[in-house]
Amino acid sequence: MIKKLRKAVLPVAGLGTRFLPATKAIAKEMLPVVDKPLIQYAVEEARAAGIELFCMVTGRGKTALVEHFDVAYELEHTLRERNRTEALAALAASHTEPGSITTVRQQVPLGLGHAIWCARAFIGDDPFAILLPDDLILSNKPCLTQLAEAYGETGGNIVAVTEVPREQTNRYGILKVGRDDGRLVEVKGLVEKPAPEDAPSNLSIIGRYILMAEVIEYLALMQRGAGGEVQLTDGMAKLIGKQPFHGVRYEGRRFDCGDKLGFLEAQVAFALQRPDLADAMRGFLKNYV
Ligand code: G1P
Repeated sequence: MIKKLRKAVLPVAGLGTRFLPATKAIAKEMLPVVDKPLIQYAVEEARAAGIELFCMVTGRGKTALVEHFDVAYELEHTLRERNRTEALAALAASHTEPGSITTVRQQVPLGLGHAIWCARAFIGDDPFAILLPDDLILSNKPCLTQLAEAYGETGGNIVAVTEVPREQTNRYGILKVGRDDGRLVEVKGLVEKPAPEDAPSNLSIIGRYILMAEVIEYLALMQRGAGGEVQLTDGMAKLIGKQPFHGVRYEGRRFDCGDKLGFLEAQVAFALQRPDLADAMRGFLKNYV
């Protein structure tokens, strides 16, 4: 039987060094694309896929991430008094069900695998999603929903995948590919950040996952991989052959918001999707190119 997917882990303990000084006092996941912080895109995408419970793996100086999803009583009271219905509506999506967000701290930056292991009590025996808020995906159907649909078909572990240029395999988790119907790919192996000459393909993992709880057992071994870190990819690789494992070539465009250029491109692409901004945006962009 395929267990219902209700939980998501959001690893948000990173230091955001690539965005200093902006991230000196605020979490990089609070940086907005147009008018919404990255973390909220991730939470909304997860909710759309049926996620009810969230665990943020945070670190020092990241409390604003939790604040963001709380009720801002004084602010809302003031807005209501002033009849600012639009502003109130803008806040609505940042409300969450009472008790639906928990946090754990990753005290030491030992890698993504270690961050996920920190959420082990939250995960328990349940399947869970992971969303990396840096990977922002613009699509017709939310990316995690596309993965959840595949999960409904195959069960087991699912990762979002996309082709990357050969010379960039050393930035991603890379698949060794089995059967491939163009959308659903059977995962035969996984390697974290291989050099182009060692990469088994150029099909890379993008930051959306649905994983089975058993991955925690392998992460708990704390084996160091690429970059000396405990890699999620290495833990996942141990599940291959024991449980179904598939990649989904998702429909959509992904922006690497952990990178300045990717982040800037996302601003433009998301603004151009907005009925209230698109025309004006298109107009002034012409002045710059
Ligand atoms: C992480 C994962 C990697 C994945 C990537 C997607 O790497 O370790 O497997 O391909 O996210 O964005 P990071 O970007 O944290 O180095």
